[in-house]
Amino acid sequence: MSTPHIEANKKDIAKIVLMPGDPLRAKLFAETYLKNYKQINSVRGMLGFTGTYKNKEITVMGHGMGLDSIGIYSYELYTEYNVETIIRFGSCGSYNEDINIFDIIIADKAYTKSNYGEGFGFYKDTIGATPSLIKIANKVVKDYKTEKKVFNTTVNSSMWFYKTDNIDVPKEFVKKGIDVVEMEAFALYSIAKSLNKNALTLLTVSDHLVKNEFTSSEERRTGFKDMFNILLKITEEL
Ligand code: HPA
Repeated sequence: MSTPHIEANKKDIAKIVLMPGDPLRAKLFAETYLKNYKQINSVRGMLGFTGTYKNKEITVMGHGMGLDSIGIYSYELYTEYNVETIIRFGSCGSYNEDINIFDIIIADKAYTKSNYGEGFGFYKDTIGATPSLIKIANKVVKDYKTEKKVFNTTVNSSMWFYKTDNIDVPKEFVKKGIDVVEMEAFALYSIAKSLNKNALTLLTVSDHLVKNEFTSSEERRTGFKDMFNILLKITEEL
């Protein structure tokens, strides 16, 4: 059995799926952390792998960029592959002077200006992650030693990486308690909620939109390690 975008057999995808935006990051994650992994998808280059971490079966698969892309993959995983939990992990831009490059974000809520949620019966502009997953993430962070700061906050799931009008104003977002920008969490959360499934997003700040600071791809390779470790510890608790 397969879907329009995933060629895997039903039994080849785990109940827990970890999703970075970049399929090559999914490959590297599987190579680095999973045992006995095998590739389960290559349709449209959206690589996915299933293996084990501490004897627990885990799938790691790319979700692409934007609400629409993660919406397609997460919907198919939840509905056709009986996936119970999806944790997106990725990068974000900070709007807040006090949240800096390489700080870690637990996206307990996602806001959007898009009407994406309407496709899933959700008409508000803000939606929460699964409360039990937020709780597990905070428990893991409490016991995890890192010099990095960890914040629980609302993320802006923006439709625009590029825009010619200055409509996403950092100061306005910070006033509303929305501290960072990414492009996917809102879609994942609205789909999970409508299907009664679990979802969370874990992010590392890769660029600062007020201080105009950016990380190189090499810095990101090493600077994201704490997020990966936290993510793996979360999976141990599931
Ligand atoms: N905008 C949207 N998504 C992002 C950004 C950004 O500046 N940085 C990392 N993910």
